[in-house]
Amino acid sequence: MDIIEAVKTRKSIRKFKKDDLDLNQIKKIIEISINSPSGGNAQNWFTYIIKNKSILDKMRNEVETVYKQITGKDAPAVYAFFNEAPVVLAVVEKPYIGSLDPIIENADKSRSHDRKFIVNPGLQGVSSFITHILLVAHNEGLGTCWMTGPLIAKPEIESILGIKSPDNLVALIPIGKPVERQSKTSRMDVNEVIKIVE
Ligand SMILES: Cc1cc2nc3c(=O)[nH]c(=O)nc-3n(C[C@H](O)[C@H](O)[C@H](O)COP(=O)(O)O)c2cc1C
Repeated sequence: MDIIEAVKTRKSIRKFKKDDLDLNQIKKIIEISINSPSGGNAQNWFTYIIKNKSILDKMRNEVETVYKQITGKDAPAVYAFFNEAPVVLAVVEKPYIGSLDPIIENADKSRSHDRKFIVNPGLQGVSSFITHILLVAHNEGLGTCWMTGPLIAKPEIESILGIKSPDNLVALIPIGKPVERQSKTSRMDVNEVIKIVE
């Protein structure tokens, strides 16, 4: 698939066929996505590839429990369908320290804070990696959905997967053969998202 077609036709998939996936195909998707850019080429990402149904069910259960505790309501479908995919990726941000960061931290605490938590190059690198995964999976004929909603139960899911600080779970990506979605979400006009500075 050509890159433009891949970008234009990818869409979030929330219903999957029951078919099992070949783990080598998932590894190939990750291997290609590692070509993603990252701050200082830190490659500060890591991915759990979860196939175990009882672990996935446990994760969903935690999401539903925490959601109910917080809101008093049942979790909406967009938070809790991920365990219906044959494979779920749990993407982790590893610590990122830019070469100038220790110097900025000593010289200017406010700038250092903004760089770490507002600009957040570490998280930007992982986001780029996730984007690559979605597009490469789409090219392989697989559907995905980038999900942060379930991370309402972040500590509980991290505990199930054995993820410990400073590693930071940032997204789940269910992945599987798509049950096709007909509609495509709308997008802004290009002129709404640009300002030309001449
Ligand atoms: C950071 C981020 C978090 C998201 N979290 C969820 C989520 O928790 N559940 C969900 O169903 N979709 C989630 N999405 C998918 C968006 O809803 C979707 O990308 C958007 O509506 C555009 O639709 P499209 O991906 O089909 O083009 C998330 C997307 C991003 C980038």
